Amino acid sequence: MHLPDIERIILDIVSSRTPRGWMVIDRNCRVVYANQSVLELWAKKPEDILYKSLPDVLHNGRKKDIAGNYLCPAVETLETGTEFRESEVALPGRAGRSSVWCLANTYLHLDDDGRPGFVTANYVPIEKFKSMEKELSSINLHIIKAFAKAIGARDTNTKRHVENVSALMVGLAEHLHCSAEQTALAYLVGVIHDIGKIGIPEHILNKPGRLTKEEFDIMRRHPLIGAEILQEIDGFATISEVVKHHHERYDGSGYPSGLAGEDIPFLSRMLALCDSYDAMTSNRCYRSPLSVENTLEEIRRCSGTQFDPVVCCSFLSFVSIHKNLSRKYQGAHGHGAGRPAE
Ligand SMILES: [Fe+2]
Repeated sequence: MHLPDIERIILDIVSSRTPRGWMVIDRNCRVVYANQSVLELWAKKPEDILYKSLPDVLHNGRKKDIAGNYLCPAVETLETGTEFRESEVALPGRAGRSSVWCLANTYLHLDDDGRPGFVTANYVPIEKFKSMEKELSSINLHIIKAFAKAIGARDTNTKRHVENVSALMVGLAEHLHCSAEQTALAYLVGVIHDIGKIGIPEHILNKPGRLTKEEFDIMRRHPLIGAEILQEIDGFATISEVVKHHHERYDGSGYPSGLAGEDIPFLSRMLALCDSYDAMTSNRCYRSPLSVENTLEEIRRCSGTQFDPVVCCSFLSFVSIHKNLSRKYQGAHGHGAGRPAE
């Protein structure tokens, strides 16, 4: 077998039979090669992507987010020379509606004059949240999932909200360099923070439209109901406290206890942000979702009053870096910053 044959075989395997997505962009960010796995990752046909600008295909023409961070590792490598090695990145999913966590590698190829000519990139999806659940094997995740399922069975909006908030909590915890144990806990409280909604009457929980003051008063019992349920489980005292205080505000004007500042458990302060972010970027029957830009502005405005300013600063930088990830959260439901809390 001649060497060119071997190269052709390798190229054939890379292009059509590996789960790892391979792509090459030229110096103008145009996609000049994409294998089958890349096409499947973004549900594109070759004509949707080939010889088109990658930022146009994936990010509406943008290379960077509002904080100046690159949205795509391949483009970053082309423009800065920084290569990625098995780096965790969140890439847009199909039709830009969800994200896919991947390990990314990028390689810069210089032309004969030493200028950037091409970037080769490869991506392999990782089951990030499966590994997160392994961290939780010591506690009874099945019970928690059953609770979450029970809420989801009553209210599909809450189910989506819970999924979104737990994903945001993990991302923020990692951004804050929390330990693996703390990150797993962040995931867990994201999953169960609204468990007290089990105790809220159906007609209030699923009411199409704004709640009356009396209905809000009932809805506001859910952190306490959740805490009471969880404190019955051995080893859940801390988690119960976090859930109890996820609607406290940094300035002390929240509920149920009116705690302020660092008296509010740290994970509760994280939850308040992730919860509000998802609520504001989500559809409600009585209003459209806010844009990501307007949501970040609102969060910035509430820093130091509703939200812990330090956590807020980290959250803003986390969301800016993973702006493509944030699109995942369109279409869910929760509680809002600067809005009547539920
Ligand atoms: Fe809540």
